[in-house]
Amino acid sequence: MLRGFMFIFVASLLLMFLDCCSGSFIGICYGRNADDLPTPDKAAQLVQLHQIKYVRIYDSNIQVLKAFANTGVELMIGVSNLDLLPFSQFQSNADTWLKNNILPYYPATNITYITVGAEVTESPNNVSSLVVPAMNNVLTALKKAGLHKKIKVSSTHSLGVLSRSFPPSAGAFSSSHAHFLKPLLEFLAENQSPFMIDIYPYYAYRDSSSKVSLDYALFESSSEVIDPNTGLLYTNMFDAQIDAVYFALTALNFKTIKVMVTETGWPSKGSPKETAATPDNAQTYNTNLIRHIINGTGTPAKPDEELDVYIFSLFNENRKPGLESERNWGVFYPDQTSVYNLDFTGKSGGDDMTMEGNNVTRSNGTTTTWCIASTKASQIDLQNAIDWACGSSGNVDCTAIQPSQPCFEPDNLVSHASYAFNSYYQQNGASDIACSFGGTGVIVDKDPTYDNCIYMRTGNNITVASNTTVISSTSSPSPTPSSSKKEVSSSISSFLTIAFLLFLWNFEQAY
Ligand SMILES: *[C@@H]1O[C@H](CO)[C@@H](O)[C@H](O)[C@H]1NC(C)=O
Ligand SMILES: *[C@@H]1O[C@H](CO)[C@@H](O)[C@H](O)[C@H]1NC(C)=O
Ligand SMILES: *[C@@H]1O[C@H](CO)[C@@H](O)[C@H](O)[C@H]1NC(C)=O
Ligand SMILES: *[C@@H]1O[C@H](CO)[C@@H](O)[C@H](O)[C@H]1NC(C)=O
Ligand SMILES: *[C@@H]1O[C@H](CO)[C@@H](O)[C@H](O)[C@H]1NC(C)=O
Ligand SMILES: *[C@@H]1O[C@H](CO)[C@@H](O)[C@H](O)[C@H]1NC(C)=O
Ligand SMILES: *[C@@H]1O[C@H](CO)[C@@H](O)[C@H](O)[C@H]1NC(C)=O
Repeated sequence: MLRGFMFIFVASLLLMFLDCCSGSFIGICYGRNADDLPTPDKAAQLVQLHQIKYVRIYDSNIQVLKAFANTGVELMIGVSNLDLLPFSQFQSNADTWLKNNILPYYPATNITYITVGAEVTESPNNVSSLVVPAMNNVLTALKKAGLHKKIKVSSTHSLGVLSRSFPPSAGAFSSSHAHFLKPLLEFLAENQSPFMIDIYPYYAYRDSSSKVSLDYALFESSSEVIDPNTGLLYTNMFDAQIDAVYFALTALNFKTIKVMVTETGWPSKGSPKETAATPDNAQTYNTNLIRHIINGTGTPAKPDEELDVYIFSLFNENRKPGLESERNWGVFYPDQTSVYNLDFTGKSGGDDMTMEGNNVTRSNGTTTTWCIASTKASQIDLQNAIDWACGSSGNVDCTAIQPSQPCFEPDNLVSHASYAFNSYYQQNGASDIACSFGGTGVIVDKDPTYDNCIYMRTGNNITVASNTTVISSTSSPSPTPSSSKKEVSSSISSFLTIAFLLFLWNFEQAY
């Protein structure tokens, strides 16, 4: 009896162990340096609709924390550079902040990281020496609240912390920052916190386009760059920059610290000189990045190493100073429409050209597919999606599902959502992404029209531009997408579990 219980207990422990911690993730940065953004509630809905599970914010704004309560989204929050002085000076400042600004919203809002200072080496005031003392005080405050195992403390950096980044194996931290980097790295190693870096191949390309090819920056290169010291081959600049960080850490003998990318992205618009800042390039960069990360390949120096990445940014931010590109990093406009389509799950995008749904749609501009709601979706998800589609974001005409209108009956959420989803889908190019609705939309090839409830079809009226959503005709996505790492690891985990159960069973027999 006891052994039987132990058996189940150990088996479930093993399952939990294998299920956790698998795979790298993609998150998004939610900067709010703008005067025209939707409310945090709307932003949180948008994030969920696109199945984004990780969000980075730059402060601890209460409205934002509340908006992400009970959403399943994990939040990285921040202590700004301006607050480094008070946070480093007195423990009580960190304690009070945690008590008043964080604890009331935790754990309903799932905060998992606190960044203490952001890119301090780029800050006009020399605040870098305040970072580690402030991090220590935040950590102490978390320890007092018993949360230091659940919430990790770190600080973000620009690539400017390196004095050399090429070739990657020569990556080294700049000696002018050694005074604060050494204690910082000791802190990270001791607390198993990641080293956070903001990586921008866009700037490297913009500022030395004669040396760097656009394809290499966009993950589209067909040739490789070799690191002469290691023989490692690089097909994109992102990997090369990440590896430069790994080598810099290794050079100082910090081999256990993980790297996390707290910002990367590509602007969709820029000043006349910034010719590479286009929606096409932004879509290409972010799409390839997402596929690369979700695929779990790691980098040449650290194959298969988990690498979590936050895309910059959720919205265009009109108040950011500087060149035109600064205000155009968003994947979404402030009215919540897409600047370009992006599939954050990295699943459908890659197969655009081979998925039957898509080439049927685009064969001659006449759609033969419709988008409806999944009967498996939860009522809450459906209601959120209807609100989104029929609201100012989706901009769908939902008159037909109002009482006494032709699509009101049957009066249930699946039916109403189906009508709204389809209208949105048809009006937005009938691409796979336009039928995602946080996983609650399904593409079908049978017209759902019934009685007087007419489901829209694209018809010849709306011209489907043939090159708006096809993401990268130059890259060669594998025609048979390799099964994702998650699937592989879950089948390995099932296999191991069964093997283990058999082992235990034999063990029991032996007694
Ligand atoms: C918060 O995120 C952590 C890390 O993924 C997870 O283990 C935990 O279950 C989440 N907590 C809640 C309340 O969802
Ligand atoms: C910043 O301050 C630290 C110590 O306060 C000093 O060691 C470092 O050289 C300063 N850096 C710059 C760029 O002024
Ligand atoms: C995905 O992983 C496979 C196997 O590890 C690799 O051959 C392929 O190039 C990867 N694709 C991308 C887009 O990284
Ligand atoms: C869709 O694409 C596949 C692969 O390119 C092709 O074999 C198939 O004939 C296409 N179907 C249509 C209807 O164009
Ligand atoms: C478009 O394709 C559909 C279905 O294959 C066909 O019925 C229709 O005649 C085609 N229209 C044109 C203009 O080629
Ligand atoms: C085509 O569009 C026009 C105006 O945009 C509209 O009046 C008409 O009803 C549409 N026709 C069809 C078949 O949807
Ligand atoms: C399609 O792509 C071509 C070449 O990139 C471009 O000139 C054209 O304007 C694009 N068409 C649309 C509708 O975006």
